[in-house]
Amino acid sequence: MGKAQIGVYGLGTMGSALALNLAENGIRVAVTNREADWIADFLHEAGELADNLQGVEPLGDFVAALSTPRVILFMIPSGAPMDAMIEAVAPLLEPGDTIIDGGNADFHATRRRAEALAARDLHFVGMGVSGGEEGARYGPSMMVGGSAHSWAQLKPMLEAIAARYEGAPCVARLGPDGAGHFVKTVHNGIEYADMQIIAEIYGLMRNGKACAPAAIGAVFEHWNEGPLRSYLVEITGKALAYDDPVTGHPMVDVIKDAAGQKGTGRWTVVEAVRMGQAASTIEAAVGARAWSSEKATRMEAERILGGARGAIACDETTLEEAFIAARILGHAQGFRILSAASGEYDWSLDLALIARIWRAGCIIRSALLDDISEAFQGGAPRGQLILAPGIAAMLARTVPALRQVVAEAVHGGHAVPAMAAALSFYDSMRQGYGTANIIQAQRDFFGHHGFERLGEEGRHHGPW
Ligand code: 6PG
Repeated sequence: MGKAQIGVYGLGTMGSALALNLAENGIRVAVTNREADWIADFLHEAGELADNLQGVEPLGDFVAALSTPRVILFMIPSGAPMDAMIEAVAPLLEPGDTIIDGGNADFHATRRRAEALAARDLHFVGMGVSGGEEGARYGPSMMVGGSAHSWAQLKPMLEAIAARYEGAPCVARLGPDGAGHFVKTVHNGIEYADMQIIAEIYGLMRNGKACAPAAIGAVFEHWNEGPLRSYLVEITGKALAYDDPVTGHPMVDVIKDAAGQKGTGRWTVVEAVRMGQAASTIEAAVGARAWSSEKATRMEAERILGGARGAIACDETTLEEAFIAARILGHAQGFRILSAASGEYDWSLDLALIARIWRAGCIIRSALLDDISEAFQGGAPRGQLILAPGIAAMLARTVPALRQVVAEAVHGGHAVPAMAAALSFYDSMRQGYGTANIIQAQRDFFGHHGFERLGEEGRHHGPW
């Protein structure tokens, strides 16, 4: 094998899968790993793909095995390990070489690293990779942020390994520096919202309709054949069908109801708030995970406050439509944040393109994203999905069901934080004359903060 076209540092689950994907697509890949003994095992398991793979260590030899300008993809934990590797590898590189961080990194760190490396004539690419191990191996969705120089080199390789939607590769350069990692963060925020909506609907069927896991799973499988078709609905249906090999009980019934989170959902909310935006459905999803982790408190509260839940009358179709409405509104909030960040960081994000590369390969891939890409293609006013005619029509059709489901849940004492937040967002945004006039009156009353009068410029005060 001649010089490698790309180097992959980090042979964990995602790094190995991406290296194999690259090799399978005829790309010559040099691989290495901090624990050098992983390399031989990896090459052994690669079988005939090893023809396109070269295991190299130490770091200096790995860098020397790459054709120039060099491209090195790091698939390592984000944060301090990435900074340490940049320090180690940068002195071995030459102007024009590119370092890629393919992890879920905080985009602020990506911007900082890109700026620091640019001062050394090196390029830094922040690349969001979605789709889990399976996606990385057979076709992920990839969100790239970096220079045009790096993209020119990366494009053919990434297009070769990306998931495809009707032939179009699900990868794009979305902007410079932190744009790719930011878009991946918001992808995960939407992922959190969608997962929480699913959990709430599962909860209504379990607690409000006394359905067994397999029966709920069958409903999700059925929904996956209609407008809710998506990876998350598909795997939910499948997961609910499994039994625990140890006890024989339904698998979900033996899983502790305490959700983990690594941070990307939280970052989405933090960034939204920082930009003066609200992402209430995503925030509800992050908050619900936090509450879920307080298992001991919830057990005690159920004993003290009572945990009985009323029956839910709404049928499968009503739940399906409520899910569609809540899913649209969760996505609408995510795209609002992208639109705000695009202005804030001068990224000129193409929202239609983002929706397009999310249609296959990534965790939130769904039939809805096709509708969303069309809506943005048609120019949703002010980047607001809810104002796009096609989406507005879908909302008009499905929000009554969301209203019914949330109302029944509230009456019955079922927690539906994400669906309720989605509904309140919808009702707030469709109120041309809102209630903030009284907030302005209060602010002026106690703090002389001033207000605008309807239809008049300038700052005014009340007669209080
Ligand atoms: C993806 C996933 C992936 C990972 C998240 C999960 O797009 O492939 O989002 O990045 O599953 O890290 O995040 P939590 O651990 O926070 O749920």
